[in-house]
Amino acid sequence: MKNKIASWFVFSLLIMVTGELNAQTKNDKNTDAKIAGIIKRLTLEEKIALLHANGTFSSGGVERLGIPGLMTDDGPLGVREDVKEGFGPANLTTDSATFFPNGSALAATWNPALAYRYGHDLGEEARARKKYIMLAPAFNIARTPLCGRTYEYYSEDPYLNARLAVQSVKGIQSQHIAACIKHFAVNNQEVDRSRVSVNVDERALREIYLPAFKAAITEGDAWTIMSAYNKLRDEYCSENEYLLKKILRGEWKFKGIVISDWGGTHSTVNAANHGLDLEMGSEPPYNSYYFADKLLDSVKAGIVSMEVIDEKVKHILWVMYHTSMYDNPPKGKINTPEHSKTVYDIAAESIVLLKNDRHLLPLSVGSIKRIAVIGDNATRSFHSGGFGAGVKAKYEVTALAGLQNRLGRSVTINYAQGYSGVYKPSLTPSPSTEPDSALIVQAAATAAGADVAILFIGGNREYESEGRDRKDLSLPFGEQQLVDAVTAVNSNTIVVIIGGAPYDIGKIKSNNATIVWSWYNGSENGNALADVLVGRVNPSGKLPFTFPADLKDSPPHALDAYPGENLKVDYKEGILVGYRWFDTKKIEPLYCFGYGLSYTTFDYSDLKTSKPSYQPTESINATVKVKNNGKYAGKETVQLYVSKSGSSVDRAEKELKAFKKVMIAPGATATVELSIPVKDLAYYDDKTGKWIVEPGQYQLLVGTSSRDIKETTIITCSGLH
Ligand code: BGC
Repeated sequence: MKNKIASWFVFSLLIMVTGELNAQTKNDKNTDAKIAGIIKRLTLEEKIALLHANGTFSSGGVERLGIPGLMTDDGPLGVREDVKEGFGPANLTTDSATFFPNGSALAATWNPALAYRYGHDLGEEARARKKYIMLAPAFNIARTPLCGRTYEYYSEDPYLNARLAVQSVKGIQSQHIAACIKHFAVNNQEVDRSRVSVNVDERALREIYLPAFKAAITEGDAWTIMSAYNKLRDEYCSENEYLLKKILRGEWKFKGIVISDWGGTHSTVNAANHGLDLEMGSEPPYNSYYFADKLLDSVKAGIVSMEVIDEKVKHILWVMYHTSMYDNPPKGKINTPEHSKTVYDIAAESIVLLKNDRHLLPLSVGSIKRIAVIGDNATRSFHSGGFGAGVKAKYEVTALAGLQNRLGRSVTINYAQGYSGVYKPSLTPSPSTEPDSALIVQAAATAAGADVAILFIGGNREYESEGRDRKDLSLPFGEQQLVDAVTAVNSNTIVVIIGGAPYDIGKIKSNNATIVWSWYNGSENGNALADVLVGRVNPSGKLPFTFPADLKDSPPHALDAYPGENLKVDYKEGILVGYRWFDTKKIEPLYCFGYGLSYTTFDYSDLKTSKPSYQPTESINATVKVKNNGKYAGKETVQLYVSKSGSSVDRAEKELKAFKKVMIAPGATATVELSIPVKDLAYYDDKTGKWIVEPGQYQLLVGTSSRDIKETTIITCSGLH
């Protein structure tokens, strides 16, 4: 390490003296010329060292020129703790960090400004920890609710996905830390993820699975991208020429680094020639990697050209100039009160009120003396667990601690565990399905004498995990029996479900009057939850994906198109992913996309557009009035969907095209402006490879969820090819 610092110092001096390597990213031409100069001075061996891992999260540098290797780190939940070999913890005392809410929590805020703050603060923490590439954000589309990484990802909808991805990337990179958007592409299941080949039609690829990647690059200017483990159309994504060369470099003009997923490289020549830049993995010996000695040999043998190698080195140096070699870097910060505020704000805006029929919420704190808090999730923390990225949280407020913080002195809180959330996926039958009757009896006794019983159930970070999908949507750990037993003895039971993906909560919806949905919600999890329960925060989260009434209703399951056969999975539903399927096929979900209640209600009126018809280059400007009818101030996410009838191609019944979250005071009316570029109404024509706006009428539908449309109007567009 000392050596590295010393050579970096020498290198910095060199920069100052010669000015040769002074990074000026604003002046790309200059930077390109400097990079070309460095490439000329590198030996082939030195170039190859830059192209593969030399540690779990690092790649090689060139000491002779003082070029440091790249330091990457996971990931979406916060800057991961340092590791020794493999993923074993280094057990440092200096690597704790802020735990940020999981991806679907961020998506449930429907608030791109919060996504920016998330990225900004994550970037600051990465800089403080000297990690220059953050392996985040992750935003593969939620195709099946079973996917083990749904909690890390955002949504089933490409538009919501893209708006959040762009801001997360911009936030991270505002700190001159590279975002690594992942996993490119169609990594929508964990089952067989390292071998399965996805067959998806071109229109669905372009309209559903790629938009957020495209936006993160063309609007967000993401500097690095991670290729997915799986194959697309029989070619591994890490060597998929179509994805990496035609689309990424050709169409989107990507200038940064294509990084393999860890251990996700499968060849030397193909991967090198088809667009992979950097091979990462966590298993030594690193010289046996495809992009180490084998790549050296391939260049010497003339099967990989020096131009190909130079191009990769150029991408790597280009990212270094924006990050580790940036000449005026922002100061890193970690675990600051501002970061706590950000995670609190995200958590508070992500919590979804699913049902409040008896208005038990917000709790009427003045008249409550005893609360029974029940469930393993009330005392469990979520910053780590399962397989995959976690964060060594500096602190995490559990749900029970949050309630104690807010109510401690005025109310007696009795806690009962109710179930054990220990999950061992290797055991059959899995303990997850078995209720613990002793814990249930104890919980019912605790609930019986209380004014209110608050249950905290759901998944946890062992149960939802990278590397495996859930087998079904049922609530684990005998939670349904627990809910039944507690509800039977206390009619004032509030069910809080914590999870990162849809669960089957149909029975709870039928039997219980009060249901709140929360997430793996970061360091301030418990405080935000308590504030929603006591009414300091009016809930404003909206579901970023559909909760099916039955797993078989979800498109891949309805069509028997998951997890595939003989390692091939056919995305038979095409563009009809998520609510597009449910709406078009007229299937009633349990809770629809975009759903979420508030402690107040909102009235919509007066949807208008600036004019009745639009040219292809224009934007449709719509306004709608939203009145807060209740006594609580509240945030509402106004959602605008577009429907095209009489189309010449198959269309989803409606598609989200704009949304805006606004705070409205009690009794006040907000005029909410929404804008849609006409080009966003296009469909992808797979015959011509063009985006086409069909001329004619489009219906605009504005509502509070995808199925609660309050106002509609019609506009006309002239076509665009
Ligand atoms: C995951 C990536 C992660 C990498 C490094 C892989 O298993 O798919 O998302 O960034 O490990 O931890």
